[in-house]
Amino acid sequence: MVTEILGADSASVRRAAELLSQGQVVAIPTETVYGLAANALDEAAVKRIFEAKGRPSDNPLIVHIADKAQLYDLASEVPEIALKCAERFMPGPLTMILPKADCVPDVTSGGLDTVGIRMPSHPVAREIIKACGFALAAPSANLSGSPSPTSFRHVKDDMDGRVAAIVDGGDCSVGVESTVICFENGRIRILRPGFVCDEELSEIAETVIDKGVLEQLSADAVVRSPGMKYKHYAPKADVTVVEGDVKAFRDYVGKKMDTNTMLLVFSKDDCEGLDAGYVELGTTAEEQAQNLFTALRTLDEMGAQKVYARCPEKSGVGLAVYNRLIRAAGFKAVKA
Ligand code: TXA
Ligand code: MG
Repeated sequence: MVTEILGADSASVRRAAELLSQGQVVAIPTETVYGLAANALDEAAVKRIFEAKGRPSDNPLIVHIADKAQLYDLASEVPEIALKCAERFMPGPLTMILPKADCVPDVTSGGLDTVGIRMPSHPVAREIIKACGFALAAPSANLSGSPSPTSFRHVKDDMDGRVAAIVDGGDCSVGVESTVICFENGRIRILRPGFVCDEELSEIAETVIDKGVLEQLSADAVVRSPGMKYKHYAPKADVTVVEGDVKAFRDYVGKKMDTNTMLLVFSKDDCEGLDAGYVELGTTAEEQAQNLFTALRTLDEMGAQKVYARCPEKSGVGLAVYNRLIRAAGFKAVKA
């Protein structure tokens, strides 16, 4: 398949909508990561997403809308607490799991009776959804198992020749995927942390952070979000997260290091006294979120085999960074 490369201008938006109306798959920019979009209500179109991505078919897709009124088309019920979240965080990097309406096919919901709904804030994503006139199912636009794409080049590396078109919308501003939440007994359960953080959601209702956010779920655990059971965000290198302050990090890595060790650090100061290649994430949680997936791809491109990473904060936006990094490390963490 020859993949068309589209820009963010209005002719490109029209072309993307035309291809999507024909049941094709188009990669589109969003504020979190690029998405691999198709008509959420068209079974054949959604199947093409799974093929392009190489994704297990029991993993449900998020459905993207351009207008809050679409919540009522896709969900059979929108509780008061969901409306409050929508009021505050939509458009934005938040996905709400709600009971699905009959129009949402099983391929989209991965056979579940719920549907994840998100209204992106990225203007190009919104214009494309509006031009289509239907909601778009879209997982992250990476090949299954590799880091989510946060730039046009990442998408092109993974999807060229596999999809009808890629819309180049530049770099994603958030850099990690949306916060995924569901509702239970008046509480908000965080299934996947993101830029909309626990502290902000707590202002709406009591929150619970799902066990799968911080730990590897055991094989027999109840999995509320199928995506959590899959190996994810995996770079080729063997990554270890090193918990502790900068001095502890330097001491630990100094002892463990050999010739093919590389470091994933907040800033190059962290590497003082360590003679190793490194990639910087930035010192604030927001910067770390924005840079994480590029950093993981860069480490692969540099041929990194063994990587020691500094451990992000486990609160605020940092929790989202930690959640992705610990998966990239296959849950390998040490306390230095
Ligand atoms: O920011 C994002 O959310 C990006 C952009 C493109 O919008 N999308 C994204 O999609 O990250 P994906 O498919 O890579 O991740 C969706 C996650 C998966 O872990 C999936 O299991 C979970 O959301 N999910 C989707 N629908 C669900 C449902 N009905 N119940 C529970 N979990 C659901
Ligand atoms: Mg993904």
